[in-house]
Amino acid sequence: MAVMQAAFDPLYGEAWTRSQVENALLLGGCRTLLIDQHGAEPAESAPAAGFALLRATLDEEELLLFAIAPRWRRRGLGARLLARALASAAEAGITRMLLEMRRGNEAEHLYRAAGFEPIGLRPNYYRTAKGDRLDAITFERRLD
Ligand SMILES: CC(C)(COP(=O)(O)OP(=O)(O)OC[C@H]1O[C@@H](n2cnc3c(N)ncnc32)[C@H](O)[C@@H]1OP(=O)(O)O)[C@@H](O)C(=O)NCCC(=O)NCCS
Repeated sequence: MAVMQAAFDPLYGEAWTRSQVENALLLGGCRTLLIDQHGAEPAESAPAAGFALLRATLDEEELLLFAIAPRWRRRGLGARLLARALASAAEAGITRMLLEMRRGNEAEHLYRAAGFEPIGLRPNYYRTAKGDRLDAITFERRLD
């Protein structure tokens, strides 16, 4: 939750509350991955530098949330965490990973470098705190 609060710009309203995360984790198929500032899995109760929240349905998995705390960015941690998410998904028999991103998010560089490709568009899907509308782009990464 510390990374969640630091990582998401309030303009876009993308951060989830603790109870939203807890409820998601109570549903079947949801999992989280954590990474520390050295690129390893943090020891229990040690601080995380980043996290991913994913939800699997049959052989598809959706990357619901993905973030690295601002102070640890541009060191390859995001790329490493994403690679770990993809590898563990493939191991679990997932055949495709999906994610939805607002148009213009810098994360697109990272997603494309990891092999994600755009497959869909929802025009004006998001609304910012200032009232502007932004498209949502769906990306897919095949794992089979
Ligand atoms: C997107 C995010 C996870 C990237 O984390 P990161 O640890 O900085 O990513 P990496 O250091 O692994 O970056 C890998 C590559 O992605 C690209 N990239 C990452 N951030 C970028 C940025 N702000 N602008 C341009 N390219 C960027 C670069 O190509 C980078 O490689 P380089 O540093 O060698 O140029 C992080 O910026 C973040 O948490 N953003 C806010 C939350 C968010 O929007 N999450 C995604 C939507 S849910």
